[in-house]
Order: sequence, then structure tokens, then C-alpha cells
Amino acid sequence: MKTKMLVAAVLLAAIMPAGATDAPSRGRRVVDEWCRLCHLRAGQPPRHGMAASYEVIVRRPGRDAAYFNRLLHEDHFPMTTFRLFENEKQDVLAYLLWLQRHQPQPRR
Ligand code: HEC
Repeated sequence: MKTKMLVAAVLLAAIMPAGATDAPSRGRRVVDEWCRLCHLRAGQPPRHGMAASYEVIVRRPGRDAAYFNRLLHEDHFPMTTFRLFENEKQDVLAYLLWLQRHQPQPRR
């Protein structure tokens, strides 16, 4: 009985992280954790000293996958991206591109 429960728990732990999220949601979590110090969140009013929200950023001209990818890999990028692992950068990229495709209305 005990063994069965253990097996179930291990299986659940193995399945959960992969099943519960996709790349854009993982990227959103990365951004929420590492980038919220400086970047406004969606719907927040502009505040002095805060960088634009990603909703605004992805609407700027020329912000495509190549652009963001380059930005995320620059050593001198002024963000905290140097703390991100490569897979996290890919997730952030997926999140930004997802946002770009799912923009309901203009936000600032
Ligand atoms: C120390 C403050 C700070 C942190 C932390 C920070 N940023 Fe930024 N970010 C800025 C500033 C300042 C700008 C430039 C202002 C703007 O573009 O509105 C910027 C701009 C950007 C841009 C847009 C650049 C462009 O050319 O349009 C992206 C994308 C970006 N940041 C991503 C991130 C990500 C991803 C993280 C977290 C890993 C992050 N930032 C964390 C301050 C920060």
C-alpha cells in the first residue's frame, strides 16, 4: 500500500511540471519572478522609473523573434537576463511572441 502511494506521488511529480504548463506560461513565470522589479505589469498605470509593460513592448515596430532573441542573448543587456538559463530565455521569448499574437486592445 505504502509503495503504491509512493509510486503515485513520484509519477505525479514527474508529470505535473510538463503537463501543467507550456512554454509561454513558463516564460510568464520567469518574467514575473525576474523582471517585475522594473517592468510594469499589464494594466498597471505608468509609473516614473518603471520600464514599459511587455504588452506595450511587443507592439513596438520591429519587435520580432529575431530582435528579442538577440536582446536576450546580449551580454551587456541591462536586464537580469544573465541570470536566466537558456531554456528560460526560450520560454521568455515564447511568452513575448504569444503576447504579440494575443493582444486584445491597446494598453500602456
Ligand atoms: C533593472 C531594471 C530592469 C529589469 C530587472 C528588467 N528590465 Fe527590461 N528594461 C528595462 C529598461 C529601463 C528598459 C528600456 C525601457 C523601455 O524599453 O521601455 C527595458 C526594456 C526591455 C525590453 C524592450 C526593449 C525594446 O527594445 O523594446 C525587453 C524585451 C525587456 N526589457 C525584457 C526584460 C526581461 C525579459 C527582464 C527579466 C529577465 C527584464 N527586462 C528585466 C529595465 C529592466
